[in-house]
Amino acid sequence: MRQVHPPARLLMGPGPVDADPRVLRAMAAPLVGQFDPFMTDTMTEAMVLWRTVWDTANEQTLLVDGTSRAGIEAALVSLLEPGERVLVPVFGRFGHLLAEIGARAGAEVHTIETEWGTVFDPGQIEDAVRRVRPRVVAVVHGDTSTTMAQPLADLGRIAHEHDALLYVDATATLGGNPFHTDEWGVDAATAGLQKCLGGPSGSAPVTLSPAAVAAIERRRHVEAGIRTADDVAPHGEPIRSNYLDLAQIMEYWGPRRLNHHTEATSMLYAARECARLLVAEGMATATGRHARHGAAMLAGVRGLGLEVFGDVAHKMHNVVAVRIPDGVDGDAVRGALLDDFGIEIGTSFGPLHGVVWRIGTMGFNARRDAVLTTLAALEHELRRAGFATEPGGGVTAALAVYEEASP
Ligand SMILES: Cc1ncc(COP(=O)(O)O)c(C=O)c1O
Repeated sequence: MRQVHPPARLLMGPGPVDADPRVLRAMAAPLVGQFDPFMTDTMTEAMVLWRTVWDTANEQTLLVDGTSRAGIEAALVSLLEPGERVLVPVFGRFGHLLAEIGARAGAEVHTIETEWGTVFDPGQIEDAVRRVRPRVVAVVHGDTSTTMAQPLADLGRIAHEHDALLYVDATATLGGNPFHTDEWGVDAATAGLQKCLGGPSGSAPVTLSPAAVAAIERRRHVEAGIRTADDVAPHGEPIRSNYLDLAQIMEYWGPRRLNHHTEATSMLYAARECARLLVAEGMATATGRHARHGAAMLAGVRGLGLEVFGDVAHKMHNVVAVRIPDGVDGDAVRGALLDDFGIEIGTSFGPLHGVVWRIGTMGFNARRDAVLTTLAALEHELRRAGFATEPGGGVTAALAVYEEASP
């Protein structure tokens, strides 16, 4: 068998996207032992860098080994005791995922739903919180299935006024859209590296407010074999997952360095590099870059004569959903883009499957050349599929946005 040798690709779907080469280089750095001072220093540096990315002073800002879903599951299984109520406002596939994970954690799950392509008015969420009186309000920030971003600024206040904690899945938005953990009163938030953060999937950045930490600490249950006489029995229910037990994970990342899992060293290097690059760029510059390239892609697909799905005023910067024109075979166009140009764009889930393509501009690929190349290639494949589109219409419209942005 030959060494793995992937074909050249430009990943312009809803994520994963191409990792920044600097992140891939960091991953090739040599391994060190779990308690080597270099390892523990690198973990501490990663915590410092990620606090800036999350815009938080939260001491407990760390990484969970696993994809974004591991971060979500760690947060929900650690925050929710069986039988406690969680309210999930669902506006796409990933809201359903939060509800599913909450149910598997043994929580009593309450959902409210809004049509795909729209978001909630904060008042609708407040009414539901009043009615349900949940322990946790769990919401997706940007749901990649619909491209919508739920406004979050009021939700922390709403949750706290009703003695609830606010959990946010920021997998698709962090780094590419403003996210202010402390200012918005977010108690727990999780992400993954493979979208606006410029890395591969496999590490889930997490941040926890002091209130979230207190709720989790109440359930701290150090496992036998490493438990000491000082590890008093918890008064809350032990967290139902060992691997995703944030109480033990916090002890591993904290000064005690209590052994839990074997930290995924190469993913730690990757996550540290993703955060280092964003901090060096500046968070406002990075979100501005995503806004600019997202606007260019939006104008470009419209310039091709394609119709955009959903309430564009609430679209994430980094992904756009376009309706597949009548008579065009969506999967055939995606396949041709991949075969002829090495460009990947996304299909869709659930009610949007076969209805829209999702095109991303995020992380390392939030770049002018990536946007223009994708639009030029898409124009070619649309025409081949029999869709009449103005020659150069996509690229010209995108270039107009760039000219406006930097006259
Ligand atoms: C909003 C959101 N949440 C969760 C996930 C799941 O992430 P992962 O596949 O990294 O576990 C995704 C993946 O696309 C996502 O977009």
